[in-house]
Amino acid sequence: MKSVIDLRSDTVTRPTPAMRKVMAEAEVGDDVFGEDPTVNRLQERAAELLGKESALFVPSGIMANQLAIRALTQPGDEVILEAQAHIFHYEAGAGGALSGVQFYCLPGVRGILKADQVAEAIRTDEYYLPPTRLICLENTHNRGGGTIYPLETIRAVAKVARSRGVAMHLDGARIFNASAASGIPAADYAKPFDTVSFCLSKGLGAPVGSMICTTRNRIPHLRRLRRMFGGGMRQAGILAAARHIFDSI
Ligand SMILES: Cc1ncc(COP(=O)(O)O)c(C=O)c1O
Repeated sequence: MKSVIDLRSDTVTRPTPAMRKVMAEAEVGDDVFGEDPTVNRLQERAAELLGKESALFVPSGIMANQLAIRALTQPGDEVILEAQAHIFHYEAGAGGALSGVQFYCLPGVRGILKADQVAEAIRTDEYYLPPTRLICLENTHNRGGGTIYPLETIRAVAKVARSRGVAMHLDGARIFNASAASGIPAADYAKPFDTVSFCLSKGLGAPVGSMICTTRNRIPHLRRLRRMFGGGMRQAGILAAARHIFDSI
């Protein structure tokens, strides 16, 4: 029989028999109470891999991005994005609907912005202008064609952001692809950001789930927002158990 390789997306992968086995045997508890040991272990491992203090398990990459936007902004704030960003194109208008922010989209080259472009786009402190509160970068960049953000460019954008008091979020849905291709540890890519999301369900091959990684003090707020967005899950250890994919990273 001919086998067909489905190249539409890295999201169409199916769990392997080994993955299904660890999932079936997962130790579980109620994660809404923070009592699922498998989820807790996954969160610790994700934070460690990204060089952040803590992480939270969420159902999807979009929820991780939207929790970050909600946590780092107020309604009426402006968020700078590259014009082809997933957050702008493919998240069903969630930034406006769920956080009341507006997007300022800058044209990049294959998804990559330059620091001076960002510096120019950050608003001055006039009462009639929307305050720029957040810059979101995407690495690798989906609509850019899987582009890897050069680390020096990320650092230069972050320097501008810090000097102007603007927060940084990384949509790192495929951050481990960038890391595998460049040899740069994911934690180095993650370091300049306040929050970093990544997906278990894409290049890493797990069936469901994403992480948001950040400082410990932001986690209670993110947990509350996850609850508000309807993303709290109960015996989620069955999903988190697919973490064994991390053992090889
Ligand atoms: C760059 C990027 N961010 C976020 C997402 C959203 O992930 P999910 O489908 O898990 O919500 C995707 C999905 O393909 C993506 O490519």
